[in-house]
Amino acid sequence: MSIILALETSCDETAVAITRDGEVLASEISSQIALHRPYGGVVPELASRSHLPQIRPLVEAATARAGLRLADVDAFAATAGPGLASSLLIGNTVAKALALAHRRPFLAINHLEGHLLSPFVGAPGGVVPCVALIVSGGHTELVLMRGHGQYERLGSTLDDAAGEAFDKVARILGLPYPGGPSIQSAAVRGDSKRFRFPRSFQKDAERLEFSFSGLKTAVLYEVAGKPPAQYDPKLLDAQFVADVAASFQEAAVDVLVTKCRQALAARARHTLLVGGGVAANSRLREQLEQASRSDRFHLVLAPLSLCTDNAAMSAIAWELLNAGHTADLDVDVTAGLVRRKKHSP
Ligand code: KG4
Ligand code: ZN
Repeated sequence: MSIILALETSCDETAVAITRDGEVLASEISSQIALHRPYGGVVPELASRSHLPQIRPLVEAATARAGLRLADVDAFAATAGPGLASSLLIGNTVAKALALAHRRPFLAINHLEGHLLSPFVGAPGGVVPCVALIVSGGHTELVLMRGHGQYERLGSTLDDAAGEAFDKVARILGLPYPGGPSIQSAAVRGDSKRFRFPRSFQKDAERLEFSFSGLKTAVLYEVAGKPPAQYDPKLLDAQFVADVAASFQEAAVDVLVTKCRQALAARARHTLLVGGGVAANSRLREQLEQASRSDRFHLVLAPLSLCTDNAAMSAIAWELLNAGHTADLDVDVTAGLVRRKKHSP
C-alpha cells in the first residue's frame, strides 16, 4: 500500500493530503479562521458545517496537484480523534465513503500521533527513542517515545493548553483570533521584562506538568485589575498591549522550554521532537534552539507549514507507525484517543 489520501477535519482546518511512500505529493488546507474570528474562538457547529462544502474541492485540488485519480489511491485515511466530534465526523464519513466506493481500506488516524510525527514529514529517517512535546490549541503533552508506537505520557497540562492560553490572552488584549500569531506579532514591539508573569512548576524539576490558567489570570488582573473591572479592550494603550503580549509569551515559552529540558534530563534522552500549532511560535523555536546548543541535545522541530493542523502529518504518521493497521468502516470517531484495530482480510 503506497498512495494514501488523508483527510483532517478535527477542528477548524479542512485539509487533504496525498502521500506516496512517505513523500508528500499534495497538501491542501482551507482555514476557517475568518469564520470564527468574530467569536474569538472556534464555534463547533459552524466548524462542522463549513467542512462539508470544502472537502470535495480540496480532494479535487489534491488529486490534480498530485497528478492522480481517486482510483489510483491505495487507502483513504481520516483523523478519528481527538478533536471536535461533529467536525471529525465529516472527514471520517467522506474517507469511509471513498474507501467503500473504491474498495480500498480505511485508516483511522490519531491526531496526536500526527502532531508528534510531523517533524518527520519530508525528513524520513525513522523514529528514535526521544522526548516529544506536543503543543497545540487542544493539548500540551510531554511524551517519552520509546520506539515504534510505544509512548509513555510524562506529563500534560492540568488546565488550559498552551495554545488556548495564547488565544485567551489575545482576547483579553483585544487582539484577533487565533491568538498565537497575534500575540507573536504584538510581542515584537513589546518589552518582555516589563511584567513578570508566573511560571507554574518551573522550579519543580520532578513535576513534568503544565498549568497555564494562573498565567492567563495574572494577565487579566494586570489588564483589568483585581477583581477584574469592565473594560473595553479597544481602548488599551498599544505599547501596554505589546508589553503584556511580550511578557506573557516569554513566560509561556520559558515554562515550555524548561519542562522539555527537565524531561530530557529526567529520562536521559538526547533528542527532542516538537510539534503542534504553538511550535510555530518564533520565540519558542529560538529558545529551543538555544537550549539544544547549551544542553547539547538534538532538536527536531516540525517545519513551520506543518505545525498547525494539516493532513500530510496524518498520512506520514500512519506510514511510520501503523503500516498494516487498517480500521473497520464502523469504527466511530472519538473526542478522546483512537482505538486501533488490526485489519483482518
Ligand atoms: O495544532 P493546531 O492547529 O490545532 C490543534 O490541534 O489545537 O493549533 C492551534 C493553536 C491555536 O491555539 C493557535 O493560537 C496556536 O496553535 N498557534 C500559535 C502560533 N500559531 C498558532 N501559538 C503561538 N505562536 C504562534 N505563532
Ligand atoms: Zn492539531
